[in-house]
Amino acid sequence: AAESMRVVAIDGPAGTGKSTVSGKLASRIGAHMLDTGAMYRAATLAVLRAGVRPDGDEVGDIVDAADIRLTVGGDDAGDTQVFLDGEDVSREIRTDEVTAAVSAVSANPRVREKLVELQRAHADDAYLVVEGRDIGTVVFPDAALKVFLTATPEARAERRHRQNLAAGRESILSEVLDSVNRRDHLDSTRAVSPLRAADDAVLVDTSDMTLEQVIDRLAELVAERIGVR
Ligand code: DC
Repeated sequence: AAESMRVVAIDGPAGTGKSTVSGKLASRIGAHMLDTGAMYRAATLAVLRAGVRPDGDEVGDIVDAADIRLTVGGDDAGDTQVFLDGEDVSREIRTDEVTAAVSAVSANPRVREKLVELQRAHADDAYLVVEGRDIGTVVFPDAALKVFLTATPEARAERRHRQNLAAGRESILSEVLDSVNRRDHLDSTRAVSPLRAADDAVLVDTSDMTLEQVIDRLAELVAERIGVR
């Protein structure tokens, strides 16, 4: 589809710096950025509020009935505002409770169907950096540029651990590593849209790169492939 020509797809597991990188890249190239993980988190919050199991049969109906809206952030990942049934839930979707349940909810095919449709509706005439797990494989298979960010589980756990400490949250590195490995396993082995790199994605291993280096590399790829600087 023509609108995909303006899409930069950025996929990869948690802890690769994906959100930060996507936000900064978007502001560098004058694009908007869409955080699709935030949508799955809002869907998960709806399920938790309804008091049903995140892997239960009712999940499809609950998420279908939920009104999930996102502002397409400009500058920073933190800019994205998420609304569930009209209420700003931008902070609540980042709690441990939501993080623990989001893999189960996002494995539900009806949830994915609804959210993929919402994501596609965001592609209009503006350049859009879309960040997620299945953007290059499922949501925008014709994206002008697909990047798959990777990093070793240790490097990712270390980053998450430092973020936790900086935010004043209690954090034990070995537990963070366990949780990274657990979520990787769930996200890459689920039946529907498992996390994997598209065949034509550019792999960027961020383990030994600074944030600046990653953004420079991606900006270079955007200039090459899309001609936008
Ligand atoms: O990027 P994040 O941690 O906010 O994503 C939360 C969860 O949502 C993650 O565990 C996997 C799921 N997700 C997904 O299945 N597909 C996407 N496009 C984005 C996120």
